Amino acid sequence: MRVIIEPDYDRMSKWAAQYVAAKINAANPTPDKPFKLGCPTGSSPLGLYRELIEMNKAGKVSFQNVVTFNMDEYVNLPEEHPESYHSFMWNNFFSHIDIKKENVHILNGNAKDLAEECANYEKAIVEAGGIDLFMGGIGPDGHIAFNEPGSSLTSRTRQKTLTTDTIIANCRFFDNDVNKVPKTALTVGVGTVMDAKEVLIVVNGHGKARALQHGIEEGVSQMWTISALQMHQHAIIVADEAACGELKVDTYKYFKDIEKDNLL
Ligand code: GLP
Repeated sequence: MRVIIEPDYDRMSKWAAQYVAAKINAANPTPDKPFKLGCPTGSSPLGLYRELIEMNKAGKVSFQNVVTFNMDEYVNLPEEHPESYHSFMWNNFFSHIDIKKENVHILNGNAKDLAEECANYEKAIVEAGGIDLFMGGIGPDGHIAFNEPGSSLTSRTRQKTLTTDTIIANCRFFDNDVNKVPKTALTVGVGTVMDAKEVLIVVNGHGKARALQHGIEEGVSQMWTISALQMHQHAIIVADEAACGELKVDTYKYFKDIEKDNLL
């Protein structure tokens, strides 16, 4: 696992965006051989999306031959609800770049048969040839997508119940009313993320420091699903200084040292 430590949120976002753009450009995608990008929601990737939008507008990266698969979506929240992950993605990213609508995949949390929706999503990823780069964030309890503590580390796309902690964390988007937060969501599994060729996770702020410490320094555990990345061959965590507050000084120094000459 690579751990990139940047001074602040803006530098973290910039590093991550430059990495993603470089990967897309290196793949030289075409309509027949598109680049498959996994996309997260949440406040953590907002800066990364802003940077990618700027780079797209400046002609430094194109999304015309990029196919996306989102991580998750709330169940029973209308797609047009301002806090649905459909709205989030179009408002914060897709509407501002040159992506084709038909290349965007987001789970339908209002599907009649949710189990079938999840199975079809897994199939669509396989049919697309797998995900080249899965971007992500983490929750304060170390969850990745909506794979809450206790999720199987080989899990696939399915419906999950949100923990009280996550409902409380996310109620800031629902008028601070926990009763308005959906209780379940559809989410890719830890196994789905692990199947991607590469995984890049952005982690910022003191609120994520414990999760980062568990993800990097402790063992692989279903209680901190981010820790599964220790078993991935190409995982990168990009963190800001604030998120490193719980790491051992030696761990911090080790990653700073080993990455000091790497531009990307
Ligand atoms: C939700 C999302 C996760 C995200 C997490 C953290 O639970 N399903 O994908 O990583 O929120 O959100 P934030 O980045 O706002 O802290």
